[in-house]
Amino acid sequence: MIAHTETFSKRFSYHWVIHRDVNGLIIYFSRTGRTRKAAEAIQETTGFDLEEIKEKAGRVGALGWLRSGMESTRRMLPQINPLTHDPSQYDIVIIGTPIWASNMSSPIRAFITQNKNKINQIALFCTGDGDDPEKVFTPISELLGKEPKATLGLIGPNRENEAASLKIQEFAAKLSV
Ligand SMILES: Cc1cc2nc3c(=O)[nH]c(=O)nc-3n(C[C@H](O)[C@H](O)[C@H](O)COP(=O)(O)O)c2cc1C
Repeated sequence: MIAHTETFSKRFSYHWVIHRDVNGLIIYFSRTGRTRKAAEAIQETTGFDLEEIKEKAGRVGALGWLRSGMESTRRMLPQINPLTHDPSQYDIVIIGTPIWASNMSSPIRAFITQNKNKINQIALFCTGDGDDPEKVFTPISELLGKEPKATLGLIGPNRENEAASLKIQEFAAKLSV
C-alpha cells in the first residue's frame, strides 16, 4: 500500500513522517532503556502504536546480565506478560531488540515464537555496543520466514546522536513505501 505521508517541522528541527494509510505496531524489549529510546523516537516519527514487552522477572544487575546472556546463547524462551495490542491487526510490525551475545534478546525470541502466525509484514531495529546488526536481523528474519521491509541498527556511540535521528527518519520513511 502506498501511504500518504506528511512532513511536519517540529522543535529541534526534527521531522514527523505520519503514515496515514499504514497501520503499524512498534514492539520492543529494552533492559536498560536504549532500545526504548529508539522505539519512542520511531513512534514519534511515525505515529504508530507502541508496545513494550514486559516480564514478571527482572533483569537488573550482574545476575540479570548473566541470565540474559545465557538465555540468548541457549535460545531460551522466558515468560513474557500478555500483550495489550494484537499484532494480527496491523499491516506491519516493527520489532526492536538489544543485541545480546550476538543475537536477539530472549524476550524478543519469546514474543516472535508466540506470535509468529499473527505477524504480517516486518521491519526490524536494534541497539548494540559494537556488533554488526545483521547478527540480529538475520535470525529474526529466519525465525519469521520474512524479509524485513526496512532495518535500522543503532550501534555504539551512534545510538543516540544526531546521526541516529537521521537514520530513524530514513527508516520511518521506508515503512510506508
Ligand atoms: C547480556 C548482554 C549481552 C550483550 N551482548 C552484546 C553483543 O553481543 N553485541 C553488542 O553489540 N552488544 C551487546 N550487548 C550490549 C547491548 O546490546 C547494548 O548496550 C544495547 O544498546 C542495550 O539496549 P537496552 O538499553 O535497550 O537494553 C549486550 C548486553 C547484554 C545485557
